[in-house]
Amino acid sequence: MDKLIVEGGQSLAGVVRVSGAKNAVLPLMAASILTDDILVLTNVPNLGDVRTMGRLLRHMGGQAALYPQIGGGEVKEEAVISMGSLSKPEAPHELVKTMRASALVLGPLLARHGRAKVSLPGGCAIGVRPMDLHLKALSQMGAEFDLSGGDIVGRAPDGGLQGANLRFETVTVTGTENVMMAAVVAKGRTVIANAAREPEVTDTARALIAMGANIEGLDTDTLVIDGVESLNGAVHRVIADRIEAGTLLAAVALAGGRCRVIGAPVGEMATVLDKLSEAGAKIEISRDSAAGTGGGEVTRCPYDAADLVVEVEPGGLTATGITTGPHPGFPTDMQAQFMAMMTTARGTSIITETIFENRFMHVAELRRLGADITLEGRSAVIKGVSGLSGAPMTASDLRASASLILAAMAAKGVSEIFRVYHLDRGYDGLDAKLINLGANIKRVPVK
Ligand code: UD1
Repeated sequence: MDKLIVEGGQSLAGVVRVSGAKNAVLPLMAASILTDDILVLTNVPNLGDVRTMGRLLRHMGGQAALYPQIGGGEVKEEAVISMGSLSKPEAPHELVKTMRASALVLGPLLARHGRAKVSLPGGCAIGVRPMDLHLKALSQMGAEFDLSGGDIVGRAPDGGLQGANLRFETVTVTGTENVMMAAVVAKGRTVIANAAREPEVTDTARALIAMGANIEGLDTDTLVIDGVESLNGAVHRVIADRIEAGTLLAAVALAGGRCRVIGAPVGEMATVLDKLSEAGAKIEISRDSAAGTGGGEVTRCPYDAADLVVEVEPGGLTATGITTGPHPGFPTDMQAQFMAMMTTARGTSIITETIFENRFMHVAELRRLGADITLEGRSAVIKGVSGLSGAPMTASDLRASASLILAAMAAKGVSEIFRVYHLDRGYDGLDAKLINLGANIKRVPVK
């Protein structure tokens, strides 16, 4: 296990490339279960969660080659997955407990293999996060579930899952993906109303369409899916990570400086870009990719990807409130990083979290640096202070880890951040990318 030692006070400069999206690659890997052919994913980020999903697919009897070497030690950002040999449709507790997204195999397993055993994801640091909505929708498609020994044991009816008219009471991202993946090979038509519109849902839908699925309503809250007999393989490029891009912009905003963030999915980042601008960051969208690296890829990308040039005077931020919401609202996955930004902004900002009931674990840690934050129910009131000072902190979850690193980079003196394994689960070398931009961060193993 590693810790990070961060010496604050450096402003940032340079060029950084955005990796593929964590929340897209995980459902895409699960989608491989739907075909006996090979699914090749490119632009695969180097993440702990991707390796966990790879282990899960192999545990089930499939083949998943991640990050193949292409000679000279160079590694391709790819996953080559073949699930035709799947023999054990089970997601065991030791894998599910480290990654809730393992539950994404439930829909594909039921649809393709008629049965599934998936360990029930436990409580997690950011809230209760049940799976009732996934199970209810799959039950409406004819699946039956029992809970046994902490496992969800599911069966599809004889003849397979049936299309159904579904409506989610609450917008759920992985719930929408799970049911969409089940519906593409179910019998007849499925309509999913109040579906999540997150770009990662759309990216998964695009890959399924490339595999032969029939899905309409992409980017809207109603998906209409006509089941097909079987799916073929495909080669699919994973969309860029809007949360990583936002985190990098927030880092520049907190530390001050000027950076070019290459290949950001700007079309999917409007709310975050608006709020960063409102807080005082100067952001230019550049489609020439003058810096070269990745430029060719950007033009080939089907999404509205571009470079973002961000410039912020040190200490130049003003208080700005946010309220998280389902896409296209402000993403809950950017809330902790935005809060770190607001700790030294001029004035008082209010951050309201509407998605998860307990996603303020970073507050106590930010207070250790001298931040003035009070919690009032689902809101945090942040009074900007003139400066933060370094302290030891412990990361509680993925986005909280990023928030603590950003705050430490802006603090005077040295901070230590423990439990950074959360960071490695979901960011592709965030500390290395920040070091490249001039941050003073060291990664040290903890015995
Ligand atoms: C996904 C993302 C996560 C992001 C979240 C919200 C992945 C792998 N993870 O998580 O990074 O923070 O979306 O944008 O894509 N709920 C229920 N019952 C259910 C399912 C959800 O009550 O069966 C509730 C949750 O507790 C939460 C809300 O619905 O309050 C939204 O959660 P959901 O969108 O499902 O989050 P995840 O898909 O787990």
